Amino acid sequence: MAGQRVQAPKGVSEYVPSRSRAFEFVRENLIAPAKLAGYQLIELPVFEDTDLFKRGVGESTDVVSKEMYTFLDRGGRSLTLRPEGTAGVMRAVIEHGLDRGQLPVKVWYSGQFFRAERPQAGRYRQFYQVGIEAIGLNDPAIDAEVIAIADAGFRALGLTKYRLELTSLGDAQSRAAHRVDLQRFIEKLDLDEATASRAKINPLRLFDDKREELKTMMGDAPLLIDYLNDSSSLQFEQVKKYLADLGIEYVLNPKMVRGLDYYTGTTFEFVHDLLGAQSGIGGGGRYDGLMEQLGGQSLSGIGFGLGVDRALLAAEAEGVIALDSFVSDLFLIPLGEHAKSQALMIATQLRQAGKVVELAFGDRALKGAMKAADKAGAKYVVVLGDAEISSGTVELKEMKTGHTSSVKIDALLQSI
Ligand code: HAM
Repeated sequence: MAGQRVQAPKGVSEYVPSRSRAFEFVRENLIAPAKLAGYQLIELPVFEDTDLFKRGVGESTDVVSKEMYTFLDRGGRSLTLRPEGTAGVMRAVIEHGLDRGQLPVKVWYSGQFFRAERPQAGRYRQFYQVGIEAIGLNDPAIDAEVIAIADAGFRALGLTKYRLELTSLGDAQSRAAHRVDLQRFIEKLDLDEATASRAKINPLRLFDDKREELKTMMGDAPLLIDYLNDSSSLQFEQVKKYLADLGIEYVLNPKMVRGLDYYTGTTFEFVHDLLGAQSGIGGGGRYDGLMEQLGGQSLSGIGFGLGVDRALLAAEAEGVIALDSFVSDLFLIPLGEHAKSQALMIATQLRQAGKVVELAFGDRALKGAMKAADKAGAKYVVVLGDAEISSGTVELKEMKTGHTSSVKIDALLQSI
């Protein structure tokens, strides 16, 4: 009896050839500017103690309250598939004592993240981010640099149809002053129980509510940006000045609410024009209380996460992802057992020199092997039989022109 087909779980993003090449291009180019700025790789587990995200990301957020993939392991410990990267980085920085060394700690990461959201175009339950975190420096210049690095990643893909939205959530004192007035404002609203209790944990959440009636209710709500104290205000002015110096354009969005509770001060999002509802291609900001919240010392931090899936969709929508199809430099077709082992050796040497070399395995008939070479988009083809091995010379066929030339096996590298 034939087995039933198993399908991928609902809402996961996955990349198979040939689109996987475009994905790889996007992922590598998005993070390349961070490496040029001295950020170093940090590679962390995809699951962590559930408590890390509850305390780090915040219980009022949708991410923690509705979207976590949480399970008990065999030892009865509650673990959660990481919904984001920042909390894990802070946990690792504290655990490995990186914060006791040279500051700032500057790290980059790339990998899968998990949120049990309702799947739709550009919104997945498993998705990819690249990100950076800079920990231990509270200088507006690094805020601007972090934003510039993200911007350079998007530019490297050729994207132009996006905007940078910027605001400041101020320091603890500014937020406390705003919170008093905001809560007073919210108390007068007629809210359902769930919304009211969310507002109690973090009243800013209500600015992010997608319901029209709530948007209307919040129309006149006091804005945090109007409550920044002098030092928060000055910091934000400096960030804006550095961005202007760098020629990075932004629009102020004082109603921006990030989906994670740890943000303080400079906060930003990159929004793409052609992606419809899921238009956020990246976001980040300062999180000056997070390390202390997670049991570490009181150090500031700033970083971003860029959505690789969405950046790829954006690049496709803008038509800037013009990748050549995958090309092999040489397709090598061995005839017979002896030729096969010779072909393996020749391929190894050419690959060591950086050439893409594919072998026709499986003792295919010559015609079938030639077809495979054509399909693989090979630039050159060589048939290797006993006669070629004993003479040390092969016929090198250029697939595009059909032109053939006799080439010494030892000189193949120079000819392809
Ligand atoms: P975030 O805004 O939640 O921030 O996610 C960053 C980016 O990941 C989003 O802008 C979006 O492109 C992508 N993304 C998020 N959820 C999904 C999804 N369900 N499907 C596809 N793409 C998605 C963070 O995660 C913060 N940790 C960023 C950060 C680092 N802040 C400071 N440091």
